[in-house]
Amino acid sequence: MKLLLTFLTAFFLSISAYAAPLLATQELENIPVAGADQPYALVAGGSKGIGYGIAEALAKRHYNLILIARHRDTLDKAKHELEAAWHVHVDVLVYDLAHDNAATDIAKWCTERNIHLKMLCNVAGLGGSHDYLTLPLDSLRYMVDLNVSSCMALSLTLLPLLEKNAPSYILNVSSMAGMAPIPVKNMYSATKAAILSFSYGLRYQLKKKHISVSCLCPGPVFTKPEIIKDTKEKLGWFGMQMALGPHRVGEVAIRKTLKHRMIIVPGTLAKTMSGILRILPKRLTTALYAKVG
Ligand SMILES: NC(=O)c1ccc[n+]([C@@H]2O[C@H](COP(=O)([O-])OP(=O)(O)OC[C@H]3O[C@@H](n4cnc5c(N)ncnc54)[C@H](OP(=O)(O)O)[C@@H]3O)[C@@H](O)[C@H]2O)c1
Repeated sequence: MKLLLTFLTAFFLSISAYAAPLLATQELENIPVAGADQPYALVAGGSKGIGYGIAEALAKRHYNLILIARHRDTLDKAKHELEAAWHVHVDVLVYDLAHDNAATDIAKWCTERNIHLKMLCNVAGLGGSHDYLTLPLDSLRYMVDLNVSSCMALSLTLLPLLEKNAPSYILNVSSMAGMAPIPVKNMYSATKAAILSFSYGLRYQLKKKHISVSCLCPGPVFTKPEIIKDTKEKLGWFGMQMALGPHRVGEVAIRKTLKHRMIIVPGTLAKTMSGILRILPKRLTTALYAKVG
């Protein structure tokens, strides 16, 4: 096991040298301009972090936005920033997406206004570094409701509008943590694996309806201090090289969603790591994650 870990670390170090120039080239890509009747995108969890990065990348491409989160203040701040910077229209809706009726109520709001919905982004989710074995049942249920049920429910309740406005898109946010079981963050990685599996299946189901389904699986994204601390402590220098900011992740996610990509892993190092995680036997990747903690 030690030998394998040493090999993997050496491999990642060697490829990280060319990662930066590659990203810089991608930065230069031209941003396409949307048509006259501006499309809408709904970002569930769009007030901050990766969701805000995604909202910004969409606004840049002239999408009007519907942002959903629990806190009105951060939603209003996001609305004002995006409207001022990109001259798009932003609606904000305050909902706890883990609640049973949220998806039905949101779809009703959109349908009554005949929103020209072209993209649904299921971003909201929670994880944390707590050990599954120490978490109360209520918290675990809440995690499943938010990470899995809300994505499943919004995809279904908004499907008629997405179908009406096809070609359209669904972008689900999983994680690299969904590519292999993580013993300590057991339930978090299980929910993200569920999103990955759900996205693969849904992509096939919706192909004929001209709705393209993509799944974002980022490595560490520095959206809050705990994630920086956790990445430094558990993954060390390698993790810090792999980590990206939410703005960059949002930009890559939207560019690739619009190109109909299925799995989206921003960053060369994270992409290589995800490729390895996906081909190694689960027994081995679980043991590797158990070692990292
Ligand atoms: N950050 C990472 O390193 C990383 C890596 C891989 C995958 N991911 C995944 O990416 C997604 C976003 O992560 P992030 O780090 O950007 O999170 P974040 O910074 O905490 O932002 C989460 C967003 O979702 C909203 N939200 C949270 N709980 C909600 C709820 N119950 N109902 C409605 N909205 C809710 C938040 O607003 P309110 O708090 O106001 O509700 C906020 O807009 C998650 O699914 C996460 O699992 C993150």
